[in-house]
Amino acid sequence: MIIRDVMYLTKEEERMLDGEYGNAVKKSMEILTALGDIYGAQNLIKVGSVQIAGVSYHNLGDAGLEFLDELAKDGRVRVITTLNPAGMDLENWRNLGISEEFAKKQKLVIEAFRKMGIIVSCTCTPYLIGNLPRYREHIAWAESSAVTFANSVIGAMTNREGGPSALAAAFIGKTPMYGLHLEKNRIPDIHVEVNTELKKFSDWGALGHCIGKNANNKIPYITGIKEAGLEELKSFCASVVTYGSKPLFYIKGITPGSEKHETPKEKITVTKEDIKKAYDEINDDIDTIEFVCVGCPHSSIKEISQVAGLLKDKKVSPDVEFWVATSRPVKHLSDIRGYTKIIEDAGGKFACDTCLAVAPLKGRFKSVATTSAKGCYYSRGKNNMLTKLGNLEECINAAVSGKWS
Ligand code: F3S
Repeated sequence: MIIRDVMYLTKEEERMLDGEYGNAVKKSMEILTALGDIYGAQNLIKVGSVQIAGVSYHNLGDAGLEFLDELAKDGRVRVITTLNPAGMDLENWRNLGISEEFAKKQKLVIEAFRKMGIIVSCTCTPYLIGNLPRYREHIAWAESSAVTFANSVIGAMTNREGGPSALAAAFIGKTPMYGLHLEKNRIPDIHVEVNTELKKFSDWGALGHCIGKNANNKIPYITGIKEAGLEELKSFCASVVTYGSKPLFYIKGITPGSEKHETPKEKITVTKEDIKKAYDEINDDIDTIEFVCVGCPHSSIKEISQVAGLLKDKKVSPDVEFWVATSRPVKHLSDIRGYTKIIEDAGGKFACDTCLAVAPLKGRFKSVATTSAKGCYYSRGKNNMLTKLGNLEECINAAVSGKWS
């Protein structure tokens, strides 16, 4: 081992930093050592997988594309690496109203990632399509909802990486050992007692809003919840981290590790009134809906089956654009099961590889209804839409009638 100012590097890592392994590896080591030094990491640790965010051309622009092209010249990933949603459905983009010009640029972005050896999965639920870490595995994931799911529901260990640091970890196969890679930083520090029943699916998004806003970047230890399915947990993960909590929580009796931690002394309580207040803050005062999107985070096959069940023998209003956002492998399952035909016959559209936050939607719709509190946050903040958060039945009703009732 060679001693540096803060972080130790092996001889091989030193050579990587010196440029012996090419430009992409050198740049990656510069990023990782800078991060490690800033955060006081003692060394780099191997990671089992990487999830890359920053895929949409809408967010990257030409500067981002040039950066990726440069890295793709000699950068190849060393571990299983998957991609977050892109700015469009890579096959069906025309049907979603994406311009030729945007599609051309987005395809170049995807080609750069493909050249690096990355699986162009284009989903924020990599854990549903085969990138499933094991308990206590070190990983380097970007995408806040996936990071929170990996840490809290699976019990893997990852910091919330940015696009460049995740890519650097993929090229080296390692990440600096700091933050949530250390057990001492994974201890919950605020007790959240949920003193109300979560009656409908979207209540999980509202709960995430309440806890995220009040947790002040702490790790919540949540009590009072009796059961939670995968879909509820993935929705909650997206919401709680979007609105301000660390990308790790424990739910007593439900998520791994909750049994070994003591209940923190600092305590907040979530009541029925708090959930109502969260809806009041998320929802705008509108009754006409132009855009409905379910699948934030990307839909599971169970959620798609529910959409198909609710849309059967109905028609989406001609005044509404209705998207089911999901990963391509899950869409294939939907094709096999016949759900796709039901949804498309009703006038719904599948938005694979993309989502309501990273597609170039600004200016296209004035209002959106969605099952996702995170979806509302980005639709309002980034795309200037008026928002309604509701459960699937309410969203399907809005898609069919063009009204929020
Ligand atoms: Fe995923 Fe996009 Fe929502 S990345 S969590 S569907 S905002």
